[in-house]
Amino acid sequence: SANIKNAMAALREGRFFLLYDSDKREGETDFVISATAVKPQDVKRMRKDGGGLICVAIGPDAAQQLKLPFMADVVDAAAKNSTAKLDIGTVVEREGDIKYDKKSSFSLWVNHRENRTGIPDNDRAYTINRLGEITKKATAGEKVEFSSEFRTPGHTATLRAADGLLDIRRGQTELSIALALMAGSNPATVVCEMLDDNTGFALSKADAKDYGNKNGMVFVEGYEVVEAFEMWKKAN
Ligand code: 5RP
Ligand code: CA
Repeated sequence: SANIKNAMAALREGRFFLLYDSDKREGETDFVISATAVKPQDVKRMRKDGGGLICVAIGPDAAQQLKLPFMADVVDAAAKNSTAKLDIGTVVEREGDIKYDKKSSFSLWVNHRENRTGIPDNDRAYTINRLGEITKKATAGEKVEFSSEFRTPGHTATLRAADGLLDIRRGQTELSIALALMAGSNPATVVCEMLDDNTGFALSKADAKDYGNKNGMVFVEGYEVVEAFEMWKKAN
């Protein structure tokens, strides 16, 4: 569809588009942009006009190469390891905790080692850009060491897309990575939820569409991505 084509063009050209998951899931709209393209002014837009959490979603193959774990597994392992002596086992995300999905996609929270505090727009843009670059290298089969550039904890959340993508999960994590794959674009995307300044809740679908119209950003729904990805998989 035209929406999907426009979203793929936005990813390739380093522009924002808006991605709604579904009425049956979170019912949230995220800003999405390619990680390598982000500028400090884009981080500013996401925190001021979006207000959600600024995260970098990474495709399953690259995440595996970079050894990016699911945060729930890290905490679980730390709690079970007797030498760590961390009494945090019960805090780990359990099945049923998240009402709209089986598990979260959260991986490590990172800063680039060259960041000072990690939170200003330029620090976050740099961390995000470098996450994009290391994902590109890992995807191209280059040997890269994640820890040579990044440290955790930090101020940018990374998200690990599910192996099997949309067959397994249909969050903005997997939806944005599926679009990047279809677009032949780098599988590292920045996502940030749009909240409503008046209510504090997720921005309504109508208001998110309106924002998109006013700011020249295409609004895409999860089901459109699922349909297009099915067709793309058959053809590829
Ligand atoms: C991080 C989140 C967001 O919902 C984000 O859209 C990615 O997660 P998901 O793939 O679960 O939708 O939890 O702020
Ligand atoms: Ca989401």
